[in-house]
Amino acid sequence: MSNIKSGGADIQLTAPDIHTNRILKILRARQTTRVFSPRALSPKTVSNLLYAANGVNRSREGSRTAPSAHNWRYIDIYLADARGLFLYDAQNNSLKMIRNTDLRAHTGLQDYAAQAPLNLVYVLDRARIMETIPDTTILLFGAATTGAISQNVYMYAASEHLSTVVRADIDREKLHKEMKLRDDQEILLAQSVGHTSTVDRIKNIAKKILQH
Ligand SMILES: Cc1cc2nc3c(=O)[nH]c(=O)nc-3n(C[C@H](O)[C@H](O)[C@H](O)COP(=O)(O)O)c2cc1C
Repeated sequence: MSNIKSGGADIQLTAPDIHTNRILKILRARQTTRVFSPRALSPKTVSNLLYAANGVNRSREGSRTAPSAHNWRYIDIYLADARGLFLYDAQNNSLKMIRNTDLRAHTGLQDYAAQAPLNLVYVLDRARIMETIPDTTILLFGAATTGAISQNVYMYAASEHLSTVVRADIDREKLHKEMKLRDDQEILLAQSVGHTSTVDRIKNIAKKILQH
């Protein structure tokens, strides 16, 4: 219960600590950007990005940076880059090669998907749902966890001045085939990540200067 008594009137909140609080500073910079430099992300950046997305952050049963209902961890992250398609194994901090073909163009209907150096694909695995529950509930669980994962990626991208966009605009049937997924796996969203274009970088610097 809040100790602020409104007496039935509206309440003006105090200003958020957007200049001093580390998380608020990053959230202030969170945004969608759809222009990408073709430059590949470094292995360290990819590792950091995936840890932020859904890495193992506690020893208890491999718990993750993103929540999942019952801790069933039913969302897998696939990575499509110029080398091929990989599955993120959070427990081993490794990438399992699934296909050695560049599938980036299949991960989205917008042109930039093919150009972004990295596209993450968020896949719901129904085999990890350990109880019989309605499909709408399964989809609700999957969407909620995917939202948390994508926001983690947005926050890491904001902290490193990377471009990112989460995307629903996907030919799911075609991508499902290309990724050779099982029938009980379902593609929910994709997310492109890369370095910002030079123009966007200059715009961001100008925006920061104007905000101060
Ligand atoms: C579920 C979801 C689906 C989205 N799908 C697309 C998409 O297919 N293509 C796209 O360019 N942006 C997509 N976006 C990004 C939104 O357009 C963007 O978040 C919105 O315009 C707000 O901008 P902001 O993220 O900078 O605040 C999607 C966002 C969400 C949350």
